[in-house]
Amino acid sequence: MTHFLDINTTSPDDLRSMIDSAKSMKAARNGRPKGAPDDDQPLAGHMVALIFEKPSTRTRVSFDVGVRQMGGQTMVLSGADMQLGHGETIADTARVLSRYVDLIMIRTFEEQTLLEMAEYASVPVINGLTNRTHPCQIMADIQTFEEHRGSIKGKKVVWCGDGNNVFASFAHAAGQFGFDLTFSGPPPLDPEMVFVEEARAKGSKVEIVRDPVAAVDGADLVVTDTWVSMHDPQSARERRHNQLRPYQVNEELMSHAKPDALFMHCLPAHRDDEATSAVMDGPHSVIFDEAENRLHAQKAVMRWCLGV
Ligand code: CP
Ligand code: NVA
Repeated sequence: MTHFLDINTTSPDDLRSMIDSAKSMKAARNGRPKGAPDDDQPLAGHMVALIFEKPSTRTRVSFDVGVRQMGGQTMVLSGADMQLGHGETIADTARVLSRYVDLIMIRTFEEQTLLEMAEYASVPVINGLTNRTHPCQIMADIQTFEEHRGSIKGKKVVWCGDGNNVFASFAHAAGQFGFDLTFSGPPPLDPEMVFVEEARAKGSKVEIVRDPVAAVDGADLVVTDTWVSMHDPQSARERRHNQLRPYQVNEELMSHAKPDALFMHCLPAHRDDEATSAVMDGPHSVIFDEAENRLHAQKAVMRWCLGV
């Protein structure tokens, strides 16, 4: 079974082929109406379940549109409305859904839910975000970087802010695609060191630099994300804001990166918290290309999972 669970559990060759396929599928759609089907229909006759235990705009719409462009059909399911949300085991849910659908994408809280879904499903399972990782986002981000600047290998990526699930997938990608990664944030919000150590073991230079100005020196890409993720308690909001304010990505901070550095944010953003609107709408920003590329990258991921 070919699941797409994380970037570190997918081989570098397979990741590369998915990025290349995403780029060529994007080129093939140039100038076409968004609802128009692709010339080839590799998902014809396929039914895809999209399960959401958390809110989503990009993941939900990009997967749904991507399946339809490739000739397949989708059903979007809210975890709370399923028996899954009322005590049916994940294993039973996985076995039942596998009798109806050809592919499952799930956005969930605990990583264990994703892993159990994958263990008991007899169809491929895709990680649409857990509390720990967000691999589909980083596939789109690698595609976006390469469209603007060529290969990401050997480049310096700097993360400012919370060491969260999106950072973790960047760390996985650093190891698999061979780029360097600097984390800049306050110690209480450090990432899990396992992500850092795994990337280092694969040969990436991964540093923790507390001073954000020093961190972005020589950066080819500066990335941030919301200061309070969906799984974080809202009661932590004020404390996190106080801890993270020095790590805001603003024009002053961007002026210390390379002059042609890119700026990324997976969205949704809290404008003028983690990044200013001047940066988000400024010349370094590629945030809407990232959002668009969710569509193309995930189409490539789905084709890889299904072998079509
Ligand atoms: N970036 C991202 O995953 O956005 P959504 O939460 O809107 O899906
Ligand atoms: N870190 C954010 C990413 C949202 C796409 C969250 O988990 O809420």
